[in-house]
Amino acid sequence: MKKKITNKTTNPFFKPEYHLSAPYGWINDPNGFCFFQGKIHLFYQYNPHSTHWGKMHWGHATTSDFGNWEDLGIALYPDSKNDNFLGCFSGSAIEKDGELNLLYTGVPFLRQIQCLAKSKDGITFNKHNTPVIGSNNRPPKSNKVSFRDPKVLFYDGAYYCVIGASFGKGRQIALYKSLDLISWEFVSPLKKEDRKTSGIFECPDLIIGNGSDILIYSIMNTENIGLEYQNIHSSVFEIGKADLINGTFTPIAKPIEFDSGTDFYAPQTTVLPDGRIILVAWMQMWFRSIPTSYLHHGYAGMMTLPREISVVDNKLFQKPAREIYSLFTTPTTIFNKPLNSLELIKEITGNSCYILLKTSYDNEFSIALNKTNKQKTIIDYKKGLLTFNRKKSGYEITGKDSTDANITQLKVFENSQLTLQIFVDKSSIEIFVNDRQTMSNTYYPFTHDGYLDILSNTEKNIEISFAPLKAKE
Ligand code: FRU
Repeated sequence: MKKKITNKTTNPFFKPEYHLSAPYGWINDPNGFCFFQGKIHLFYQYNPHSTHWGKMHWGHATTSDFGNWEDLGIALYPDSKNDNFLGCFSGSAIEKDGELNLLYTGVPFLRQIQCLAKSKDGITFNKHNTPVIGSNNRPPKSNKVSFRDPKVLFYDGAYYCVIGASFGKGRQIALYKSLDLISWEFVSPLKKEDRKTSGIFECPDLIIGNGSDILIYSIMNTENIGLEYQNIHSSVFEIGKADLINGTFTPIAKPIEFDSGTDFYAPQTTVLPDGRIILVAWMQMWFRSIPTSYLHHGYAGMMTLPREISVVDNKLFQKPAREIYSLFTTPTTIFNKPLNSLELIKEITGNSCYILLKTSYDNEFSIALNKTNKQKTIIDYKKGLLTFNRKKSGYEITGKDSTDANITQLKVFENSQLTLQIFVDKSSIEIFVNDRQTMSNTYYPFTHDGYLDILSNTEKNIEISFAPLKAKE
């Protein structure tokens, strides 16, 4: 077992109970998400020294149920000549010959290069001396200071990886191929675009499916268009067909934003031995004030709940990883009736819990969560338009987003029913809508003892079930 860095303490008031958060310090992107030697491993961008971004390490945790996370300390330190300026940036993991291989971006002075580290036990890693994709092997027309976040996959006898890079004044997702993870050849830009805004594509990911493939990437400085791209940076997916031999990806439609919440970035997937594709993202947004940081709680940032991703009839579905439900008691139905009033539900406080709401798509209602006379968080629904509002939730959050950092809206895909699964975990509220769309949000209430109330005047049926988190053994 590696030495842990947790002798520095954190304040438990907002500390997530079932989401992964930093033992101490700052975290951002999920990295190296994989299944290795019987466990699920999740690494992450980590600064163990402060609650702000700094020289990057890779933190490491394992789980077998996606809700209880074991902290395994630091997997990668920024201690080699290939990464000792800004650290070990994002990357991914793959098993080869019984060893766990991490492919990550090293940042020496004014360059970004791709590096490799290996481990027999999945805990202690040895770095390869030289970069495996150096500046001299970067994609044509790319800049050596913006070339990062390799995501590796194995397909048809070879290893491939996708990497974010610039392309002249534009940006690209570069595809590389290797037979041994050490010697890599550039294949082509799998995607490229003229730069609409500044910055590159970050954290690309490619999933080869049975029939449809999915290209995932995060876009810096997205332009807000209607209800799309309300945050400063956004993560999207494209369903289509990848041809890895010729290095092309042909999408069936334009990119779709992954999540419409206030806090979701840099998602990464892994495929479990049972075939499920699981995705985790950083549940935070760049350039936001973070209450756990400015209130000196000792940590900043957390991951989303792991989600099961699938494509059916060219539509992407997103469901909570099924293991998550075992963290809660069996849900009890609190009411199931046509609602034409304001109903106060005292059972549902601001503590960690699961709430299931079912009604018709054409209904209208408004929920206040964790409500006291000093705070409330609103989930409002009007005939297909879902709004999350944390303006009066508690401690202030400010950002550099093009729309209000505290209100976000989603147009729910047309359906006969509306099913909301709401997961509350002390300082987060994640909403799964009809198993297809999601809103991941952080919130920082003054207290956790408020109640839930719901108002509707439509006489349409609403069913609400509720389950608290099981007590830890
Ligand atoms: C995305 C990102 C990556 C980079 C990492 C640095 O959030 O900017 O592109 O590797 O964070 O921490």
